[in-house]
Parts: sequence; structure tokens; C-alpha cells
Amino acid sequence: MKITVRQGALVETKADALVVGVAAGVKKLTGENARVDRACGGAITAALGYADFDGDVGQAVFVPAGKAPASRVLVVGLGEKKKFDVAASRKAAATAAKCCRDARLKSVAFSAANDAMTDAMAEGLAMANYDPALHITKNKDKHAPLLSRATFCVKDAGVAKGVRTRVARGLALAAGVNFSRDLVNEPSNLLTPKIMASRAKSMAAKFATISCRVWGQREIEKNKMGGLIGVGQGSTEPSQFIQLEYKPARAAKNIKTVAFVGKGVTFDTGGISIKPSAGMELMKFDMGGAAAVLGAFRILGELQPDVRVLGYIAAAENMPDGSAIKPGDLLTMMNGLTVEVNNTDAEGRLVLGDALHYAKSKKPEFIVDAATLTGACMIALGDAACGLMSEDDKLVKLIEGAGRDSGDPVWRLPLQEKHRKAMKGHVADLKNTGPREGGALTAAGFLSHFTEGARWAHLDIAGMVWNDPGTALDPTGGTGFGARLFAAIAEAAAK
Ligand code: BES
Ligand code: MN
Ligand code: ZN
Repeated sequence: MKITVRQGALVETKADALVVGVAAGVKKLTGENARVDRACGGAITAALGYADFDGDVGQAVFVPAGKAPASRVLVVGLGEKKKFDVAASRKAAATAAKCCRDARLKSVAFSAANDAMTDAMAEGLAMANYDPALHITKNKDKHAPLLSRATFCVKDAGVAKGVRTRVARGLALAAGVNFSRDLVNEPSNLLTPKIMASRAKSMAAKFATISCRVWGQREIEKNKMGGLIGVGQGSTEPSQFIQLEYKPARAAKNIKTVAFVGKGVTFDTGGISIKPSAGMELMKFDMGGAAAVLGAFRILGELQPDVRVLGYIAAAENMPDGSAIKPGDLLTMMNGLTVEVNNTDAEGRLVLGDALHYAKSKKPEFIVDAATLTGACMIALGDAACGLMSEDDKLVKLIEGAGRDSGDPVWRLPLQEKHRKAMKGHVADLKNTGPREGGALTAAGFLSHFTEGARWAHLDIAGMVWNDPGTALDPTGGTGFGARLFAAIAEAAAK
């Protein structure tokens, strides 16, 4: 979808649909909206009286365009005026995109101003204009077709440049999210660790500021990443350790460095501690943390914030076979700690342990990891927010702020010293499962043994990575959660 910024009145703009936003409770239209209303013979005012439209965010109704140069006018709710914010703007734009796609319309036009609502509008539009049907070969058009064009109308030429910059930002954020979604939606036979690595490389190749190195099985073994080796050894697909670096073109000497780490289990059968078959197909999303890191780098490449960012993805397929790790087996991790694998389904912490240790060795300012780590976190928070676990209050504050701004919400869970202790082993330094109670916290407690001495926060995105049924903003399937959050964390660190 291309977005053009045009100076002129909405009512004189050619598009399949003109979109008019109205706040809840509005009965009398003003300004641009009133002009569109006059052109369509008062149809918008009439719609304000409909029983099924009261201006809530997420509501929308088509009315005939009358004399306006469009085939329809779409009236979208903006919610209560005093609560209107970027989140409402993002959602209202997504609603408009969805209605137009469902109606088989190809182009839309909006009024826009030079403020943060415009970034969010472009972002919401492009997030809703996502096609998850990666492999549908027949009657593709029966699927809601994509919008091809949007026009943002501005009052005076002076703000057009500012609005264009905002549109570009919104589109960059959405492109990162949609890239993550594609990776999450891809079936695991088409997104093996190796294929993920090649997708990472081709993304990096698009940007002069991003580099990507990949360790294959041999280098992983040479570097003694025992967790990653152990998890991947039951699969015929070789594990991969993907290393990314973003550095702005003209980096200051004292530029900060932060590191992001993602769990990249391309399919989680549970291994020998095998999962029940019902719903197992969803475990292709177990690389959602990796997808978030990759989506974030795509965003960083576009937005070019003033911070150096390292990215590490531990990619493996968790399968049961004759060479798979068995419950009770012992692994020696990259940092030398020994782990008793009580449950081969607690594999995420094993691959992350090594990746976190490696990230720490690069001495970044702080490390944040994202992982679809525990069913417990999903049960605790649903899709209200991802779990945020850290003992570093300052880092928590930074991430909470990024959560609010980005549209990817976070909620702190009380990680404590006792969760670290709960993971001490009997025959080894550590065991990979603790008590069932507080499962998200003990998982984080395990990870903390690999981040000692570093500033670190863990994001459990198990409840956030997948959406079914979908919404306008998050169509059914992978959500791309975390891409915008990581990008916002990097931007906050740059300040
Ligand atoms: N990938 C799963 C976590 C998961 C489960 C995410 C369901 C989303 C939905 C992870 O590898 C896992 O299996 N965790 C176990 C840990 C347990 C064995 C300690 C879990 O949560 O049940
Ligand atoms: Mn598992
Ligand atoms: Zn898993």
C-alpha cells in the first residue's frame, strides 16, 4: 500500500472511500467532516443517529458519497473525545482498512494533521492491510483484497513534509510487524532454523546499517553451546545461532549498545516429553521471540535511531528421535553450568541460556529477551500484556514506557531471588524445571543464571504471539508482537 500526502480538501479527493472520523456523542459535524457531509447530502449526520453506531473505536458504517468524488464515505468511531490517543487512532485506522478491504475497495482517503495521530494512523492502516494467506493458490481474490493506496489530506502545504515523515515512520513500524507475522505464520517445514537464518540475512542485506552472521551446527559445537545443541539434537534440521548488529551510519564515539535475544524454536513438539497432539500445530509460533527481534531490526534499519543494537537468535527444532535428549539427561551450557533436563519440553530456557550468556559477553548496556516461554504466563495474563520480569527497576521503567508508546503492552511479574534458587539442581548445577506454581517466574529464574552481573529483562510473550480470532489491527494468526516494543526500547535507550 502506498500512502500519498496531498494538500487539499478531503471532500475533493478521489478515492474509493473517504474516511470521516467522529468522536462518540457527536451530533453536529464541523470543518472538513461537515463539508463531506454536505457533499453526500447529510448522509453522515443521518448515520450519527443509527442505533448501531455510537462512535466507539472499532465501529464503522458506510454511507453513499453523493456528490463527493468517491464511491462511498466511511464513518469511523474515534471513541470518547477526551480519551482519544494514539492507540485509538491506530485502531480506528485499522477498522477503516478492514471495512474497505471487506467491501473490495482499493483506495481510501483521510484528513491528517502533523501530530502523533498520523504516525499511528499509517501504522494501523498498514497493520490491518496484512495478508496472512501466504500459501493460498486458488481464488485469492475471495480473500479480502489488499488496499493499494491511501491518501492523507493536509490543510496547508507547510505541514505536508512533517506528515510525510510521520507516515514513513508508521509504515516502517508496520512493515516490521508484518515481517514478524510472516515468519510466525510460516509453517515449520518452510521455516526451519536454516531458512530463518537466510531470511535474517536477506533482511539485513536491505540495510547498509545492519549486518548478520550465522553460526551453523559446527560453530555452535565449537563454541560449546550445550543448551542449543541439546535441544536441536533430536531434529534432522541443524540448529543455527543468528547474530545481528545494527549501527547507525554516523555513530557517535560514545554510542550506547543494547542487546536483544529471541527464542527461535521453529517447532516445539516437546521432544521426548512430548506435547499432547491437540493444538500442537500452533507450536510453529514458538519462534515468536526470534520474529520479534527480526521485525525490530527491520524497523531499526528504517528509523535509524542513535544506538547500537545487537541481536541474538537461538534457532532449533525441538523433536523426539533416537538421538534426542531424554528426561534426566545432562547438558553443559556455554557458560560452563551443568543442567539436568527434567523435562525436554522446557527447551526454550536451554537455548536462551546460551544466547543470553553470549549476549552478556559483548558487554551491552542491558539485555532484553523475548520468548514464548511458558504456558503459565499465557494463563496468568492472557493477551492483556506480555510478562515482564526483571530485578532492575530502572530497566523495567524504560520497558514499561516503551510498552505504552508502542502498542505492545507489558506487565511486570515479581521475579525474585527465590525463583533463581528454585532452579538449583540435585545432580547438576541447575535443573530445567521448577515447581508448577509461578511457572513463568521460575523459567525466568533459570534464565537469570546466565545473565549474572548484567542488566537484563525477560519478556514472556507466550500469550501475545498468536491471535485467533483476529481483529482489524491483528488479523488471525501471528501478531508480530514485540517488534515495535523492541524498537521502542532501542529508541528509548538512544535518548
Ligand atoms: N513453547 C512452550 C510454551 C508455550 C506453551 C507457549 C503454550 C505458548 C503456548 C514451552 O517450550 C513449554 O513447553 N513450556 C512448558 C514448560 C514446562 C515443561 C515447565 C510449559 O509452559 O508447559
Ligand atoms: Mn516446550
Ligand atoms: Zn517452546
